[in-house]
Amino acid sequence: MINKSKICYILTSLLAVLAAVGIIYSFKFISIGIQGHQIDKFVKHAGYYQLNQIESQSEDGSFTAILSWVKGKKEKELNSSPVVKDLRVTFKVDANDECQFKITDLSNSRFHLPENEPYPFTKQRFSKKQQEFNLFETEISQVGQKFYFELRRKSTKEIIFSTKNFPIYFTDKYIEVTTQMKDSMIFGLGDRRTDFLLKSGKYSLWTRDAADIDNGTPGKEIYGFHPMYLRRDIVNNQFQVTLFRNYYGMQVDYEQNSHLTYKVIGGNIDFKFFISDSNPENSIKLYHNYINGWILHPFWSSGFHQCRWGYKNSDMLMDVWNNYNKYEIPFDSLWTDIDYMYKYQDFTIDFERFNITQMQQIYNLSDPNGVHWSSIVDVGIALDSDAAEKGLEMNVFIQSAKTNQSLIGKVWPGKTYFPDFNHPNSTEFWYDGLKNLSSYGISQDGIWIDMNEFSNFVPGELVPSESLVEKIKSFFAIDQPALPFNPLGIYFSNQNSIFKIQLNNQINMFQLIYEGLQRIDHKTLSLDSKHYSGYDQGILYNSSNGYIPTQYDFHNLNGFGEGIATYKAAQKLGKKLTFILSRSTAVGSGRYVQHWNGDGYSTWEYMKLSIPSIMNFNMYGIPFNGDDICGLMGDATAEVCARWQQLGSLYPFSRNHNNNDAPSQEPYVFKDHPYVLSSTIKTLNVRYQLLKFYYHLFVKANGLGTIFRPLFWSFSNDDNAYTYETQFMVGDYLMAAPVVQPGNAIKQSTHSCVYIPKGESFYNFYDYTEYKEGEHCYEVPFDSVLPLYIKSGKIVHIQDKQKVLRSRFLDNTFTLMIVLDENNYSSGSMLTIDDYNRDENIISNCIQNYNCVIDLFAQGKLNENNLFQVELRIQQEKQNTTYQIILIDKLIVIGAKANGKSYQKTINLNTNPWIIDRNDLQFNFSFQI
Ligand code: NOJ
Repeated sequence: MINKSKICYILTSLLAVLAAVGIIYSFKFISIGIQGHQIDKFVKHAGYYQLNQIESQSEDGSFTAILSWVKGKKEKELNSSPVVKDLRVTFKVDANDECQFKITDLSNSRFHLPENEPYPFTKQRFSKKQQEFNLFETEISQVGQKFYFELRRKSTKEIIFSTKNFPIYFTDKYIEVTTQMKDSMIFGLGDRRTDFLLKSGKYSLWTRDAADIDNGTPGKEIYGFHPMYLRRDIVNNQFQVTLFRNYYGMQVDYEQNSHLTYKVIGGNIDFKFFISDSNPENSIKLYHNYINGWILHPFWSSGFHQCRWGYKNSDMLMDVWNNYNKYEIPFDSLWTDIDYMYKYQDFTIDFERFNITQMQQIYNLSDPNGVHWSSIVDVGIALDSDAAEKGLEMNVFIQSAKTNQSLIGKVWPGKTYFPDFNHPNSTEFWYDGLKNLSSYGISQDGIWIDMNEFSNFVPGELVPSESLVEKIKSFFAIDQPALPFNPLGIYFSNQNSIFKIQLNNQINMFQLIYEGLQRIDHKTLSLDSKHYSGYDQGILYNSSNGYIPTQYDFHNLNGFGEGIATYKAAQKLGKKLTFILSRSTAVGSGRYVQHWNGDGYSTWEYMKLSIPSIMNFNMYGIPFNGDDICGLMGDATAEVCARWQQLGSLYPFSRNHNNNDAPSQEPYVFKDHPYVLSSTIKTLNVRYQLLKFYYHLFVKANGLGTIFRPLFWSFSNDDNAYTYETQFMVGDYLMAAPVVQPGNAIKQSTHSCVYIPKGESFYNFYDYTEYKEGEHCYEVPFDSVLPLYIKSGKIVHIQDKQKVLRSRFLDNTFTLMIVLDENNYSSGSMLTIDDYNRDENIISNCIQNYNCVIDLFAQGKLNENNLFQVELRIQQEKQNTTYQIILIDKLIVIGAKANGKSYQKTINLNTNPWIIDRNDLQFNFSFQI
């Protein structure tokens, strides 16, 4: 008997044959129609914008002006993308360290997103603005001359942004603007997997389901959309952030020490600048404030997580859970990937494979071994599912421009619809689905939203009524939609191998791979598909002039919209602090969701690049972020997995995750290499010792700023610090130097180094050895913990007296590690919260009134009797601190300087712990040296 999948196979094989024939056809097509040529021609002969008139000027330095296009002699306008002839320039001073430079068409009628929530918007920070206080100054061309705009830092005259001597093109579907970029280092422009310091290259921005590494080749970007960069002026060591407030697909061409060009397929020219000083964190905080800050995750989610695609039934879940319990590996959540669903349909559980009684046992939090359930929800809604029926009733799916019906694509369950998160009913639809999942007696504590770029296994859509010939034609068409410029790359490296046809076993379909070129709707929805276009009820956008927003306008906001809907649903379901792990994100997503870096391979290179990716997402305002520990795809070797577990033990979000067809990689499966298990346990114990400290950094930051940072963040003056990209800081306290390269298999150890910045001192977290400036190299056995150091002058609170396997059993008793600096001084902070597990407690005491943080100051000195005395003062950070009792029962004093030597001492206060229960406390202690 021929089954369904065989028919599918035959049909797809047939398609492949036809496709092969189609290659010849498409070759012809490509060779005469290389995209980009059109625009290159235009750019070569194009005219320029002249400054016609200064319309208005105000005291604070703001102004508006009018530009008009002066046609080039041989200029040939593109029919598909005419020049916008008259433009308005707006420069707005928003604060003395924040300003906006905009160019729009005169009537400001092009599609752009509003400047209010959920989008980034300017917060009124100063009531009175005066030019003399501005940290910046501007210069523009004379009236009647070719237009340029320059923004400089007033104190140093360094150029922040300047279009002087560079062209500006503003056509309907192609905009180009360039800024000078001398003496600068830049970081950001994501989402991409690359080194932290950006090298010269062409970087596309377009949310895309891909696992690429990007070294500056167009079309290698990944899931999210963050057109911002942090720039360091190298000469003056000053930082600022530039955000390009344009949500269309774009390519950014960057030439180090020269210029940076944005090439965009729509919208306006709209830049926001945030200007601070030699501390990058200050610029980032201004930026985060503008993008509406980020939300705090629930405490349990900072524990360790185990996941895999391929836990095909509850017996397998049970097995993992039992092994974790047996080997005493600390963890807080066991995840289910798409396997748990009935036929991969959202909001369902396949009860035949997933026994609900077993699930209820694993996810029972009253049982000391119980863990939280985190599970996946994909954005594609299976055609023949209950959710689809409901969605059609509610009319919430994205509409095809070809069929005028709900667009049909293909994801794991086969044919799918895609929710239009602009539709007023979409929030209710999404809530309904998630509510369904919560009706089975297990609570979905972590919500994982995946494939939300939106990922689609066919280019554009499936059009049921299309003839076979049309299908094949559209399959091979490279100009979908017709654009003067394709930001995903337009260059054919090798004309002979443009296409590859590959059988994708996961979906039992042949796929067409373009080499060197990507259709812009490759693996996503047709860009002419339509979204809700009402004028007052759209969730993301309201149309004032009847404009119907399309995927072309909204593509980069797909994940952002789903994040908001999921957040609202989670809140309606009663969750207080939400944990929503989203693959696709955009500027401002951190207000609603958390993130992981998406798919990667189990290799050293991917492991290493996870570090800059997490740093990037800290800049993008989603600091609770992590990478798939041990790698998603491919076979993780024992050594890679052990090192990754060590590194990942200090990711903000720490989860081992694996692919469907890769060999198992839970820490206990490497029976021939027991060091994987033993080092994982040791290193996760350290995570759990630090769990409340780590969480307190998030609470204290109060929704603004970074947690997981590059080394230079704390030492921006030290040029060497910029070259150590794999060392990272946790806040301004801890520095890790993970091993990210293979070692010696015979010695079972790796030669590895740590760099200590100029003039600094760090202390080994485990044995308190001091490390002074410069590079220090040593052997790190495979079976070890993450190499970790505390910065001199810092107090870190840890919980090192009991082994805890679930975060909810961490108590309110702490050890203080007091690391004194050269003046015998140190400082830190803590939360005055005795129960981190009740979200309400955190929300009302830490978030709403921001009054649960205390600051700790320690000062030591040697007295006449060779007694080293330490005075520890505690002060509330803000007014009216809530004091829930916390206890200190152990002190570790490190780096006490006396008689030209450095001492350390551990003091147990077990029987007489310090009780912190009110403001302005002072504790004194001393020890003989
Ligand atoms: C893609 C995700 O990135 C990956 O983490 C997941 O396992 C698969 N989808 C299957 O759901």
